[in-house]
Amino acid sequence: MNLILLGPPGAGKGTQSKMLQEFFNIQQLSTGDMLRAEVASGSDVGKQAKGIMDAGGLVSDSLILAMISKRLDQADCANGFILDGFPRTVAQAESLDGMLEDRGITIDHAIEIKVDDEAMITRITGRFTCAKCGAGYHDTFQPTKKAGVCDKCGGTQFSRRADDNAETVRARLAAYHAQTAPISAFYARKGILKTVDGMAPIDDVGRQMRAVLTAKGAG
Ligand code: AP5
Repeated sequence: MNLILLGPPGAGKGTQSKMLQEFFNIQQLSTGDMLRAEVASGSDVGKQAKGIMDAGGLVSDSLILAMISKRLDQADCANGFILDGFPRTVAQAESLDGMLEDRGITIDHAIEIKVDDEAMITRITGRFTCAKCGAGYHDTFQPTKKAGVCDKCGGTQFSRRADDNAETVRARLAAYHAQTAPISAFYARKGILKTVDGMAPIDDVGRQMRAVLTAKGAG
């Protein structure tokens, strides 16, 4: 099964992708995570992307498409994948079609996580991640069971993203509405768009996702 998760910053794409990855044994491909790894490594790609990411804008289509094309050919995608944060422009969506056609594969479902913009500021500014295993948490909505200790690996170091401040989140939301939101109509026209209520608690959103994906006739 090959999936696309759509939704604004903070909608829960990363959180739900990780849950779907475990449930369906398919690979999460997050372009945001790939770019942050490039920035951390100090590569040329990372140098080009950093300023744009810090300002809340979108990195160039050509750079993103080259990165995702290479990633789709890796062995861990053979059983299926979840695209998280890609495509983000109609041009990326059209190029993805070509890439998949060349490989003889298709997207089964594009799931849009519907949320209210204002709530996304609180979600994003409260987000933190285990520095050792990458598990994601939230100060209020998804705290660690024991304060200061990662539930998954016992790590005690956590990090927050450089672009997770209120000002940058507003710029990211504006970029989403201007450049990414039109993609929903692109996938609706193909007949593969589904929606879930992303304002529900995390586990409820997960249940909605699994219901959509396992419904009779879901493909
Ligand atoms: P990226 O990393 O993709 O960031 P984003 O789209 O802004 O999305 P987020 O990761 O912020 O949110 P999410 O929906 O994954 O939410 P999460 O599950 O973490 O991109 C970063 C930057 O890279 C972009 O700004 C751009 O510059 C660049 N970029 C990336 N891809 C690109 C592309 N294709 N083209 C061009 N540029 C690109 O949840 C957020 C928090 O809320 C968490 O703490 C979580 O615990 C909590 N939470 C989740 N769900 C719920 C819920 N239902 N209820 C309560 N809390 C919840």
